[in-house]
Amino acid sequence: MKSWQKKLIKIVSPLLKKLEPDHGAAHSRVVFWWCLILTEDNQRVDKDTLFAAAWLHDLGHLKLKSGIENRERKHSDLSISLARSILKKAGVSEKKAKLIKEIIKVHEENLDLLKMKLPLECLIFHDADKMDSLGALGIARQFVYSGRVNKKFWDPSIPRNASLPWGGNFSAMHTILDSQMNLKFYTKKGKRISEDRKRYMHSYIKRFFQEWDFKK
Ligand SMILES: [Fe+2]
Ligand SMILES: [Fe+2]
Repeated sequence: MKSWQKKLIKIVSPLLKKLEPDHGAAHSRVVFWWCLILTEDNQRVDKDTLFAAAWLHDLGHLKLKSGIENRERKHSDLSISLARSILKKAGVSEKKAKLIKEIIKVHEENLDLLKMKLPLECLIFHDADKMDSLGALGIARQFVYSGRVNKKFWDPSIPRNASLPWGGNFSAMHTILDSQMNLKFYTKKGKRISEDRKRYMHSYIKRFFQEWDFKK
């Protein structure tokens, strides 16, 4: 590991402890691991920027307290404001810092990233981050997150609305059904692996509602 990377992790680790386990260091490690998998076929990608973004992109959650009102304030913008001084302290060059901030800016973007003509690193990072929202671990992360922001795991009295960011974030299941299951992927590998994870989630959702209806 390069010295600036060690420095960056040293600064960020105590902050990420407050976001465990859904957006903490474990998530950062997994996201960077996915970045490496998704870049296997493309050696020209700047892995340094992906590394830094993995450790910095969700710090903005520290400034959010709860619910959709706050999530709409975009944690990505809040992460960028925190990342600025951390990147300077870690000694990251201006050129790399610019790309890192661009990656963070669009990692949660709902618009079509292909139309935005972004550097490849932005697309790879987006897919790597979203991969951790899918599958068994993605479901677990969503339940933990919803609990942390005082949401139920499911509330059928609230109508679903997939047009809202994160499906309205009304409950964990609202977000899983109307946000996670609709996540778009941009890289070839990301598309393939995400389909497999979504298949598993379909079976989980089916079972969840079978058990929910039985409970009534
Ligand atoms: Fe995020
Ligand atoms: Fe993330």
